[in-house]
Amino acid sequence: MLTQADNRYMTETGPGTPMGEMFRRFWFPAFMAHELPEADGAPKRVRLLGEDLVAFRQTDGQVGLVANACPHRGASMFFGRNEENGLRCVYHGWKFDLDGSCVDMPNEPAESNFKHKIRIQSYAARERGGVVWAYMGPPALMGELPELEWSFVPAENIYIGRRLQECNYLQCIDGGIDSSHVSFLHSSAASHRAGTTDAKDPMAVDKHPHFEIAETDYGLLIGARRITAEGKHYWRMHQFMAPFFQMIPAAVGGPIAGHVWVPIDDNSTWAWSMTWDPEKPLTAERRASLESGAGIHARVDADNRPFANRDNDYLIDREAQRTTSYTGIFGIGEQDMAVQESMGSINNRTIEHLGSADTAIIFMRRRLLKLARELERGIEPLAAQRHELFRVRSLQLFLEPGEAWVEACQEPMIARSPYLPARA
Ligand code: FES
Ligand SMILES: [Fe+2]
Repeated sequence: MLTQADNRYMTETGPGTPMGEMFRRFWFPAFMAHELPEADGAPKRVRLLGEDLVAFRQTDGQVGLVANACPHRGASMFFGRNEENGLRCVYHGWKFDLDGSCVDMPNEPAESNFKHKIRIQSYAARERGGVVWAYMGPPALMGELPELEWSFVPAENIYIGRRLQECNYLQCIDGGIDSSHVSFLHSSAASHRAGTTDAKDPMAVDKHPHFEIAETDYGLLIGARRITAEGKHYWRMHQFMAPFFQMIPAAVGGPIAGHVWVPIDDNSTWAWSMTWDPEKPLTAERRASLESGAGIHARVDADNRPFANRDNDYLIDREAQRTTSYTGIFGIGEQDMAVQESMGSINNRTIEHLGSADTAIIFMRRRLLKLARELERGIEPLAAQRHELFRVRSLQLFLEPGEAWVEACQEPMIARSPYLPARA
């Protein structure tokens, strides 16, 4: 449970809000690079952290990210002419470069100094791993992109999806690190029928995981332990990385999956989902299945809105719910979305009842609150400057009772992809 004040503090991310300012200290994904395919091509509307922006790929191929509203009289730069390394507003021809300088003001006398006094708000943008990343914080404090393993692997090794989620980002993180819901929301109807539990599936055998959290410099290492039918300890380890990155438990040596929850504004979120193999290309079968919306991915339209959405009750099939699937909703991504959006665009956390299964959520919220409150007192978030901290993996391990899980995962959780740059 949060107080009303804390819930507001945590869920507001616009300019000038404490949480929003903390988020602006980090690089995060803005959109896929292929969405701006050609130099001098059409600009693209982008909304991030409550700010309306326009992205353009200029003549030399670099991506610029500027305010939507022209500083002259507010016309949208989306209609701008993208030409000769700059974006020109079509209302009166003012032209801006990717640093935000006004480089031409053709409706003022040539001898006028006015253009040197004018800037458009601009933000840094960089490309890595097929993604355009944005940094919306103070230029003097700009760090490096986080060295997430998935952002370095070749395109054949990864599938990245992005879907619109129509709720606040915090509901998405709450759900993303919540190992306990997996035994229900994403399960089959059969795994809940008396006498039919699959003894090989620890998620079905033990539905009340025990949580332990290790605090780290980048965020949290979250352990959820289930006891298997043979009495082994099955540990699922999530990674939560500041400010809104995460990884889902993955088998050692297999593909890994993760999310990034980027606030579009306080009522909607870009839910990024990525599945990658750190060493080898994804098989054609796996890629085809991911593209079809399997696993954590969702089937989306051209605007990245899922076909199953709140307007059609996520295409819930009540017959399937009775017989095969716990929810009757197809797809893990859609199942998550259904419950997270159903709380309303901003969940009222003053009336929730958190139990022991919500331990990870309590720790994550505490961490985000701490980072934002520290920044208000002038203490910068460490992880924003320490890009190498992000070289970790999530995992799942079967351990003997009594074996220390944090120690057991230290070695296998190190990201070792051959595509990672050599460490300085
Ligand atoms: S409003 Fe953009 S140049 Fe006048
Ligand atoms: Fe889920």
